[in-house]
Amino acid sequence: EKAGYDHFMLKEIHEQAITVENTLSVKEEIENIVKDLKSIKRICFVACGTSYHAALTGKYLFENYAHIPTDVILASEFGYSFNSLDEETLTIFISQSGETRDTIDAIEMAKEKSKTLAIVNVLGSQATRIADYVIYTQAGPEIGVAATKTYIGQLICIYLLAAFFSKHHLKDEVFANTLLRKINLIPKLIEKILENEDEIKDLSLKYKYPPNFFYLGRGLAYPTALEGALKLKEITYIHAEGYAAGELKHGPLALIDYCVPVVVLLPKGDSYKETMNNLSEVQSRGGDIIAFTSDVEDLSDQKAQDVFEIPNDLGEEFEELFAPLTYIIPLQLLSYYISIYRGLDPDHPKNLAKCVTVG
Ligand code: F6R
Repeated sequence: EKAGYDHFMLKEIHEQAITVENTLSVKEEIENIVKDLKSIKRICFVACGTSYHAALTGKYLFENYAHIPTDVILASEFGYSFNSLDEETLTIFISQSGETRDTIDAIEMAKEKSKTLAIVNVLGSQATRIADYVIYTQAGPEIGVAATKTYIGQLICIYLLAAFFSKHHLKDEVFANTLLRKINLIPKLIEKILENEDEIKDLSLKYKYPPNFFYLGRGLAYPTALEGALKLKEITYIHAEGYAAGELKHGPLALIDYCVPVVVLLPKGDSYKETMNNLSEVQSRGGDIIAFTSDVEDLSDQKAQDVFEIPNDLGEEFEELFAPLTYIIPLQLLSYYISIYRGLDPDHPKNLAKCVTVG
């Protein structure tokens, strides 16, 4: 049932191109839901863990490309700050399992005040029975405790929602059509990144010992940095902090020295230059930089100890827009192989369950 892979996690990482393809096939359903939600003036995402990182990505997309004010709230915090919801708010719940206690409680609360939409992977789960609207990520069953292919499925739903909100709310058909055209290139690009798995294996061997890591990104790459750090924590038990690259100088820089590797996400686009500037802050404290970028040449040996190339098949103009769908792939692999090289079982991390049904 692992189809020749050593672990479910690795199998599921490799199933992500097909998950993208399958989830793109629910495009029409998503457009119909958006058409039905004409009166929406505000969006509020609610989720936990990896699903929360997908939601954070949604905030950047919805605010920038559909101009809809968007909040993102952790499900466990929702009960303390939901009084401003109203019938012009759409509350979007993201949950792989559709059974997470905190998320279910939040849907019950939100239903009283706002319209609710659940993005879920498991058919017929509780969330799908409570929410007004449901979109299914087409990832198939995910067995590994760490969410991988379901995260990609969630992101695809969010990109499609952003495209259709842009088309129907903002009346920006050009953006919507471009996004819908370019997103079809993602499955091939994911396959291409996976072909360089051996490079990630080498990196994992090199970096299996340090007890602390930082993950940095800006803009759309920031939630990806958070997700990369979470993947490392949960299956390797290494302490990892995901940070907005610009926040580094507001405190955490004090923790960086030659013992702390810093993973930096550098998609070409608006944020590139400024993230590059943050590299010198890391460098002057002696931290090893592991850069993920399409511009390998720009990251000469002096700037980064290790560079992993993300192919620039979408064109420079679109690299940053789609970075969450591509840059996460090598980060998942990095966590997987570090866990293997530390002699752990990535499918069964200690103290974690696939579905958290307690609040
Ligand atoms: C991380 C992970 C968890 C879940 C979180 C929410 O790999 O799996 O952080 O993302 O428990 O679960 P769902 O999406 O089922 O609500």
